[in-house]
Amino acid sequence: MVEELARKFRKPHRGSKAEQKSATDRCHGLAMSLEKFLINEEIERINIPAHLMTYAWEREHENVTGLGAGGPFEGLLGSLIISKNYKKILETGVATGWTSLEVLWALGESGNDGVLVSTDMPYPTKNFEKWVGCVVPPDLEKNWVLIKKPDRFGLFGALENLGNQLDLVHYDSDKSYWGRMWAYPIIWDNLRQGGVFISDDVGYNLAFFEF
Ligand SMILES: C[S@@+](CC[C@H](N)C(=O)[O-])C[C@H]1O[C@@H](n2cnc3c(N)ncnc32)[C@H](O)[C@@H]1O
Repeated sequence: MVEELARKFRKPHRGSKAEQKSATDRCHGLAMSLEKFLINEEIERINIPAHLMTYAWEREHENVTGLGAGGPFEGLLGSLIISKNYKKILETGVATGWTSLEVLWALGESGNDGVLVSTDMPYPTKNFEKWVGCVVPPDLEKNWVLIKKPDRFGLFGALENLGNQLDLVHYDSDKSYWGRMWAYPIIWDNLRQGGVFISDDVGYNLAFFEF
């Protein structure tokens, strides 16, 4: 809450329309298709069994709090994990847990003893907390540590759990300029050489490009 308040007064304001446009234009200029990553074959292997999907959709529909924003399945995370046999994975931002489900399923599919640690800060006044990660079926939870704290605290807990030398990070939590500029360097310093850092919605502001 203190951080939220501080942001209202922090200068310079880094969320202007002009900055958003500049970031979006840069994204379009640099965009490339998934084929460039040569992971199509693995994407075809992302075939989550029907009973797990049924569980996930039932839980998603049960949740009427408004917590959402994720959705199944882009396949990028799962196919990277399967093709590269990644084991140490950090995710910030869970919502109901569709990306967590994809990652955890892919870890199981790889047959390795990999771990996903996820952080999420449920908004304090909205009764979201019990729904964070709700679509993840209990069968997949054994390789999962879910830390329900804001990044400012949760990130350190996550790194304590995983150690450094992360294989893969998916950043999908605090999308503000200042939030990213705080978290990105910490995450980057804990990524192993050759690891992969994915950040969602980098067109929202210039933090990703400046970083
Ligand atoms: C876009 S959703 C995540 C969607 C999920 N990765 C998926 O694709 O299925 C963003 C989530 O980030 C969380 N969040 C926002 N700010 C945060 C912060 N400062 N620390 C931790 N979590 C935060 C919100 O509670 C929300 O659940």
